[in-house]
Amino acid sequence: MSNPLEQRIAPQLEQFIAEGTYKRLNYLDSPQAPRVRMEGRGEVIILSSNNYLGLSNEPAVVRAGKEGLDRFGAGTASVRFICGTFTVHRSLEAACARLVGTPAALSFVSAWNANEAVPGTLLTEEDLVISDQLNHASIIDGVRLAKAITKCQTAVYQHGDLADLGAKLTAARHRRVKMVITDGIFSMEGSIAKLPDLVELCRKHDAVLVVDDSHATGVLGKTGRGTAEHFGMVGQVDIITSTLGKALGGAAGGFVAASAEICDYLTQRARPQLFSNALPPTVAASSLASIEYLETHPERVVALRDNARYFRDQLLGAGFKPLPGETPIIPVILGETAAAIRMSDLLLAEGVFVTGFGYPVVPQGQARVRCQISATHTRDDLDQALTAFRKIGRQLQLI
Ligand SMILES: Cc1ncc(COP(=O)(O)O)c(C=O)c1O
Repeated sequence: MSNPLEQRIAPQLEQFIAEGTYKRLNYLDSPQAPRVRMEGRGEVIILSSNNYLGLSNEPAVVRAGKEGLDRFGAGTASVRFICGTFTVHRSLEAACARLVGTPAALSFVSAWNANEAVPGTLLTEEDLVISDQLNHASIIDGVRLAKAITKCQTAVYQHGDLADLGAKLTAARHRRVKMVITDGIFSMEGSIAKLPDLVELCRKHDAVLVVDDSHATGVLGKTGRGTAEHFGMVGQVDIITSTLGKALGGAAGGFVAASAEICDYLTQRARPQLFSNALPPTVAASSLASIEYLETHPERVVALRDNARYFRDQLLGAGFKPLPGETPIIPVILGETAAAIRMSDLLLAEGVFVTGFGYPVVPQGQARVRCQISATHTRDDLDQALTAFRKIGRQLQLI
């Protein structure tokens, strides 16, 4: 006998399968890398990982994680302020701040938590938070939570539309704190936020700018310091949130980088800090090693950029029409969700793992396969993937 909840969701699961939108998990039996061993498939080329710099299996990074485990054990078995916090967390937070160019940083168990903590902890009912329409789900939920917790006013501006944002800031001029939140790189489009315009507008309206650089840290800028470095504006963003689960080792975790006062206030008041354990020390240690690796190997960032440009040019040459851009996120729009999932399945049968994304992750009718390139893909990896793209593209009459 199933309960009322199970009775409701069981037919929905069947419907997902019937309409071709059901997500099947693929199990890997090797570290994340350009080529992985996938259960039931053998070796496949990964074109859907955020392992942009290839650091998740970098020997120095793996070694640091093991040493962290040996030195600090599995964890404190409590939250940081109750049971002590490890010295490796302090070193990691100093490295995060140094990397993105802020006075301080505070780590969280995920960037999701960091994005939840920022508006929900820092705002009050006197304030306003405005979020880009295409921001990541963690920002959207963080804003919703802030509204419920603090009773702050919330608004959404049209994607990248500075005129709309300006009008909303003008309308809210009597609000005490005005917070604007944007992704640095928009994860489903691969496009970059117009940071110079945003900084100028926020200064004009005395608003606080928050940039989620989860896809930009380690990726944008000459040395991978993120969106601010890309535009030559390091030190000009008020609050940066980012993840340790993508370019910086790919394990898990996130951080808020900002002034010492803001980080201190979050330490005192952010509920994900106060009521949830810290990052495991093994992850803090491997993430720290990832940042140190990035700081001493800027050539990885150059290789990432070269690989992304090569793959994009070759896709265009083959007749595909990826969304324009200059980041290692290269989406090819297909329309309906089922079409994206079908293309992804056909590519996987050719040994290339590219995820198809549909509604509600992207807007209705804009389902896509999203290619993500790594610095450690060889030309051989990319060429083999391109051969599969051409074959499936012809089969589906996309090119
Ligand atoms: C823009 C953005 N912000 C935040 C997150 C959440 O990161 P984490 O996995 O550290 O919670 C993601 C992950 O997909 C993301 O793409």
